[in-house]
Amino acid sequence: MSHNTFGHLFRVTTWGESHGPALGCVVDGCPPGIALTEADIQPWLDRRRPGQGKFVTQRQEPDAVRILSGVFQDERSDGQRTTGTPISMIIDNVDQRSRDYSEIAQAFRPGHADYPYFAKYGVRDYRGGGRQSARETAARVAAGGVARKIIEGVTIRGAVVQIGPHAVDPQRIDFGVTGDNEFWAPDPDIVPVWTEHLEKVRKAGSSTGAVVAVEATGVPAGWGAPLYGKLDAELAAALMSINAAKGVEIGAGFGSAALSGEENADEMRMGNDGAPLFLSNKAGGVLGGISTGQAVTARVAFKPTSSILSLRRSINEAGEEIELRTKGRHDPCVGIRAVPVVEAMVACVLADAFLRHRAQTGGAAFTPGR
Ligand SMILES: Cc1cc2nc3c(=O)[nH]c(=O)nc-3n(C[C@H](O)[C@H](O)[C@H](O)COP(=O)(O)O)c2cc1C
Repeated sequence: MSHNTFGHLFRVTTWGESHGPALGCVVDGCPPGIALTEADIQPWLDRRRPGQGKFVTQRQEPDAVRILSGVFQDERSDGQRTTGTPISMIIDNVDQRSRDYSEIAQAFRPGHADYPYFAKYGVRDYRGGGRQSARETAARVAAGGVARKIIEGVTIRGAVVQIGPHAVDPQRIDFGVTGDNEFWAPDPDIVPVWTEHLEKVRKAGSSTGAVVAVEATGVPAGWGAPLYGKLDAELAAALMSINAAKGVEIGAGFGSAALSGEENADEMRMGNDGAPLFLSNKAGGVLGGISTGQAVTARVAFKPTSSILSLRRSINEAGEEIELRTKGRHDPCVGIRAVPVVEAMVACVLADAFLRHRAQTGGAAFTPGR
């Protein structure tokens, strides 16, 4: 009855709370013989780490990962390699300040998961939100680092494409420039607009939502399995499982409802390499639940942070009506730090889809005309 595991052949279990001594994950099903050290994982965690930039939580966590199992090295192994056994990874929590949370020990923050955790379990670790805290997403990012090693031909890149009402012009999206600014913005021109918006939000003690876009290139045709293992369905489930995610679109998503059949259906021609050349990508690289060889694209809407400084009406565990303001260190826009998490979840889903495709078909790829 516990649901802390996802994936089929590439199976990830995460554990830990925000203010416990550590958190981590166990990755089961990773093939043997893959070169893997902490240095392959740490750069991804460094991208998610809190305390970087003015508009994210000031909690200072080094997020240094240690691999505890599932790897081995000797004079014959050509460096440290996976053994096919469970890979356990641990990340210490070092900057907890539990006193920040004494006020919510008995109270339910509006928009947060305090009330449903109480209603379901009757007991909850309220320090930093316990298990409901997005600290847990560090473990997902570590698992994503392993997944990326399994599908090295795939490039997964995320970007913030909207903060509050300010969206990036889709024509100007360049995933190559996201590392140049503190917002993972794919268009440098939006940075001053978002900075001004976030300054206002921060001064008001409020918060704002965001949309994160992600694309995976280099995914060959054939990954994903009809009917109940559809690639788009599994991506949607994985992305919706991220804290504060409120909507997921694949390809043209909700916008496709307003398109005509001609506008929506991606026309095909023969490409020079024998594979089809699609003339557009409204499908987001998935048809019938199977990858088409086009970029796999998705967008995730993140709600505004619910822990805010403004006074809000709520109730407490004693059933009293109260007014509450949430102190502590919170991201005014959680969508910004969600980018590496979105990428990691896509990596895990794709690695799992690749392994299952290989298991069922031997990894075959059929080409038109041959
Ligand atoms: C990267 C990231 C950071 C987050 N940081 C905070 C935070 O500082 N304060 C907060 O109240 N919620 C934060 N959240 C959102 C909560 O974890 C989330 O809203 C809460 O667990 C309730 O779950 P739900 O919104 O998915 O229903 C963050 C989410 C993400 C993805």
